[in-house]
Amino acid sequence: MRRFRRLRQTKELRSFVRENEVSVKDLIYPLFVVEGDNQKNPVDSMPGIYQYSLDRIDEELDRVVEAKIPAVLLFGIPAHKDEKGSGAYADDGITQRCIRHIKEKYSSLIVIADVCLCEYTSHGHCGLVCHDHILNDETLPLLAKMAVSMAKAGADIVAPSDMMDGRVAAIREALDAAEFINTPILSYSAKFASGYYGPFRDAAGSAPHFGDRKSYQMDPANGREAMREISDDLDEGADMIIVKPALAYLDIMSQARERFDVPFITYNVSGEYSMVKAAAANGWIDEKRIVLENMIAMKRAGADRIITYHALDVAKFLKEEEA
Ligand code: PBG
Ligand code: ZN
Repeated sequence: MRRFRRLRQTKELRSFVRENEVSVKDLIYPLFVVEGDNQKNPVDSMPGIYQYSLDRIDEELDRVVEAKIPAVLLFGIPAHKDEKGSGAYADDGITQRCIRHIKEKYSSLIVIADVCLCEYTSHGHCGLVCHDHILNDETLPLLAKMAVSMAKAGADIVAPSDMMDGRVAAIREALDAAEFINTPILSYSAKFASGYYGPFRDAAGSAPHFGDRKSYQMDPANGREAMREISDDLDEGADMIIVKPALAYLDIMSQARERFDVPFITYNVSGEYSMVKAAAANGWIDEKRIVLENMIAMKRAGADRIITYHALDVAKFLKEEEA
């Protein structure tokens, strides 16, 4: 008889035949930075997550470095927003200043700069707006300018998340022209119009003031289209790809992994985090077990790396497991 249970008998045997693993090296931690002094503002819908001002962000950065998490994904929230999202490409903008600070003090930490206008625009959309339409081609030069500004500030990687068509090519061209030929582009190629982004929009103050993002982010029903988005972004010069959200889109991750031989990162988004936190706070689930199970599921689906708000907790859980 075939006895699968032979290899499940002990913790040692199970570990010996384990196919996938999660390590702190897999983790990327998102950070929210705000203007002002002495700010550590809790994000109500995301227990454990705060917006930090520059003078207090080291508290969090120290924890990240201490945990040996290799990378952060930075979201800056400017004090003033306008129609064109000027703060996004101001060389003294909040995000640019934060990048400079991190690279000065924590030089080995990889800084990924999100490239999108929505945190910086008064209307909360990811592109320029005209008569309630989100303009595509007119937005591209601003994204390109933003990417160059982030690279100039010292960002190790730029990550366009706006979902405008042609942005990877526009950003690559602008980076090369500004002599940032070695700045990699991590493209959010398969980014779905998802209800799971709700808590993030509280954290970043980036909810659209009218309409929704369905004219630029993908329809959750479409898997084949995601492959075309990824393929086009690679053609335009993307070095790595993000699939977002993570858990409801593991099939997309797994198909993409089979088709394309590039690094894939999945974004375990705010709503996915908040649901786990809420259920755990109620005592309905075992947080550590559920979080580690979610992490291994993303790895098993083919993600090389995981952007997650659970990163510091995962680092702690992994340490406990080792002990
Ligand atoms: C928008 C952006 C979003 C997230 C990060 N950047 C989505 C959106 O508001 O449409 C979501 C991240 C999360 O939910 O954790 N450029
Ligand atoms: Zn956006």
